[in-house]
Amino acid sequence: MKKIMIAPSLLSADFSRLAEEIRDVEKAGCDALHIDVMDGHFVPNLTIGPLVVSAIRKVTKLPLDVHLMIDAPSRYVGEFRKAGADWITIHIEAENDVLKTLQEIKKLGAKAGISLRPKTPVETILPYLSELDLALVMSVEPGFGGQSFMPDMMAKVKVLRSKFQGLISVDGGIGAGNAFQALEAGADILVAGSAVFGKADRVKAIQEFREIFKKF
Ligand code: DX5
Ligand code: ZN
Repeated sequence: MKKIMIAPSLLSADFSRLAEEIRDVEKAGCDALHIDVMDGHFVPNLTIGPLVVSAIRKVTKLPLDVHLMIDAPSRYVGEFRKAGADWITIHIEAENDVLKTLQEIKKLGAKAGISLRPKTPVETILPYLSELDLALVMSVEPGFGGQSFMPDMMAKVKVLRSKFQGLISVDGGIGAGNAFQALEAGADILVAGSAVFGKADRVKAIQEFREIFKKF
């Protein structure tokens, strides 16, 4: 049986009570914490920088899965690693030298990931698979939480699963209603913002996912 993971996305947490929110999902038994970094340029929204990641690092032992939705991410991988990121994912559309950036992330001791926006063909990631720890398939347009899941993106997950031994993550619009689809396509990690932090009872929210995981 493979290990399937649930990574709540902090974007839907209550930022005025960040430490409590993190402890809540950690106690509820999630596997990692997904942190959405946005620069107001690669995507229209602005969110979290290394300063906040280092504050988060102090309150949890969970792996920090940092999703960089920023232009030229190579400029910042060192800072995010120093802040405590365990997995660092860049967008293939945002970096000129993808290979060099992946190698840099690994040299810093983190796991290296590439993410694809919905319009980016899956073929673009294939040349990098041998250097990659994590492939993150976006199932919404990056920028905001709470959008609808795009089922067509699961075709990308299937192609990746047939060629890639590393971790495949699906991010955007995931809930108990479509988790099965993502896992059937071959995902190992489900990122869920509103479906976890948007619910009052996080134990129940994560339990619902775990019930679906048992089928795989
Ligand atoms: C979107 C982010 C996602 C998002 C997920 O740009 O990458 O991680 O916060 O939130 P939900 O699960 O609400 O779509
Ligand atoms: Zn994300």
